[in-house]
Amino acid sequence: MSGKDRTGRGRPRRSRTGTDFSSTRPPKSPAAATSWDALASWYDGWVGEGGSEHHQKVAIPEVMKLLQLRPGESVLDVGAGQGVLAPYVARAGATYVGVDASPRLAALARKRHGKDGRFLVGDARDLEAVPDLFPDTFDAVVFLLSLQDMDPLEPALQSAADMLKPGGRLVLLLTHPAFRIPRQSGWGFDEGRKLVYRRIDRYLTPLPVPMKPYPGQEGRTWSFHRPLQAYVNALSDAGLQVNRMEEVPAGAVLTGSGNRRADTHARKEIPLFLLLRAVKPAHGA
Ligand SMILES: C[S@@+](CC[C@H](N)C(=O)[O-])C[C@H]1O[C@@H](n2cnc3c(N)ncnc32)[C@H](O)[C@@H]1O
Repeated sequence: MSGKDRTGRGRPRRSRTGTDFSSTRPPKSPAAATSWDALASWYDGWVGEGGSEHHQKVAIPEVMKLLQLRPGESVLDVGAGQGVLAPYVARAGATYVGVDASPRLAALARKRHGKDGRFLVGDARDLEAVPDLFPDTFDAVVFLLSLQDMDPLEPALQSAADMLKPGGRLVLLLTHPAFRIPRQSGWGFDEGRKLVYRRIDRYLTPLPVPMKPYPGQEGRTWSFHRPLQAYVNALSDAGLQVNRMEEVPAGAVLTGSGNRRADTHARKEIPLFLLLRAVKPAHGA
């Protein structure tokens, strides 16, 4: 792909998979891409310097394991938030660039982690329009808990794929789309079998979900549920080849069952996170 086209018009785009939110999509405004901007200070306080408990104990170690960074490599973190991943990438000896649609989060990221990388404001669905980002220049692209907050999915993955060097890899971590569907799944306790189970109310139909307001906060963020097939097919349509999938349990679960044994079983068996790694074929591969 040559040169920059900020409008996105005239760019070659591959066929898209059938994720269609048209009937229930939240209002199409700049805020749709930046629903986190209004909550930036709260989110920054909640995540803090080294990450939330989930970041530190599970999400970031799992992402780093799949990334397998080598010193001198370059990483683009898409939906970087307040930059929690930057110090981990810097410690691995790689260079870090974070991009986020929220100007406030990008500013907080610069303040907290500016020594570990660069932070840019931009839309994941059109990364080529971001000054300082160029196609075919990153060894790795990461979506850490961010792709589920982006809509539509396909341009975000195509845009990320375009940023990768041939042979580069994309790693994404999501709350598991089959088991942790916001507002459409929950824990239950089977008294007869003394088993905690996960109830799934709907799965196959894509669904934009307004998240419950966070305690003491007025704004709300949007999440976009899609079935697993939407992610795998969109990666493939973006020209990427999936070569790893991990399903990872949480450190602890609160099911409300009052039965510790059943809780422990549920924690081990029902994953919280899904990770996928996909590679951009090398030239001639
Ligand atoms: C749940 S936060 C995760 C942030 C960070 N990766 C972390 O783990 O703390 C989701 C992030 O995705 C960003 N985001 C949502 N839509 C975006 C878009 N279209 N382009 C860029 N960033 C976007 C939000 O602004 C927010 O910072």
